[in-house]
Amino acid sequence: MDLTYRPRRLRQNDILRNMVGETHIPADTLIYPLFVVEGDNIKEEIESMPGQYRWSIDRMGEILEAVITSGVKAVLLFGIPHRKDEWGSSAWQEDGIIQRAVSYAKKSYPEILYITDVCMCEYTSHGHCGIIKGGVVDNDRTLDVLAKTALSHVRAGADMVAPSDMMDGRVGYIRNALDKNGYENIPIMAYSAKYASAFYGPFREAADSAPAFGDRRSYQMDCRNICEAVYEAKLDIHEGADIIMVKPALSYLDVARKIKQSLKRPLALYSVSGEYSMIKAGGRLGYIDEDRIIKETALSMYRAGADILITYFAREIAGFIREGSI
Ligand code: PBG
Repeated sequence: MDLTYRPRRLRQNDILRNMVGETHIPADTLIYPLFVVEGDNIKEEIESMPGQYRWSIDRMGEILEAVITSGVKAVLLFGIPHRKDEWGSSAWQEDGIIQRAVSYAKKSYPEILYITDVCMCEYTSHGHCGIIKGGVVDNDRTLDVLAKTALSHVRAGADMVAPSDMMDGRVGYIRNALDKNGYENIPIMAYSAKYASAFYGPFREAADSAPAFGDRRSYQMDCRNICEAVYEAKLDIHEGADIIMVKPALSYLDVARKIKQSLKRPLALYSVSGEYSMIKAGGRLGYIDEDRIIKETALSMYRAGADILITYFAREIAGFIREGSI
């Protein structure tokens, strides 16, 4: 056959395929999310997220050591407090769960980069991401508590803060609070295009943060929208965000691609709890090959434009990178 163009020539073996592979995942672009809970001697498996645990501070070392061994360099911390109230006041307590966790972890394992999630929903009795006034989440009042919370995380030693509340203007407000207190070098990773998504279901069980009434659609984004995502990300960059984020990942790869191409700034994708749980469930039932699905989905996220990936599979992916299978 007279065929000049034969794309299969470069697919003949691993060496050739690796030579021309277009997408690579560096281990130091992975971020592992971690749940920290009040109490002692706790390593409690999250029912809907098999393989993920809630850790008390005294046992956190186990998972941080596993993170270091895997080659993952950064963690994203979520706190589950003892006490919740209407204002989420345990979110900015000096001896709050995150503040104590960060200060312990920073001292014991300084080689890890510690990012903290800044939001109210794990700390409020109603489970919303802000202060409620007249039955709705009051944007401007919430900015104040978010800034206080971010500042308390940084004072405790956080290397970067990640506001996930989706209030308007929060990045600028937090930036200002950090700068005024001498933390102008602490970066902000903004959950810029965070969609109101059913994929957060297992997380809400993990963090006990489901809203007691209504839903989050008055602050998180409508999944029909993509131009608005670019607008949100642009606003965050103008307000001082250093890294922008799209969340969830798998169903929003088009959004990631569009934001990366339009704004050309460091972009994180967050492959959320529901994505993890679906793969785990499918794998356990024997319906899919879990490892191959983890690799394929992670590659799709980088191919779409991610520079950074936040994923509950971070340690597994780092393992695949080490063995050269991704
Ligand atoms: C807090 C927050 C949520 C997630 C990250 N930060 C939950 C939510 O908005 O309901 C979800 C993460 C995941 O599902 O893995 N606002």
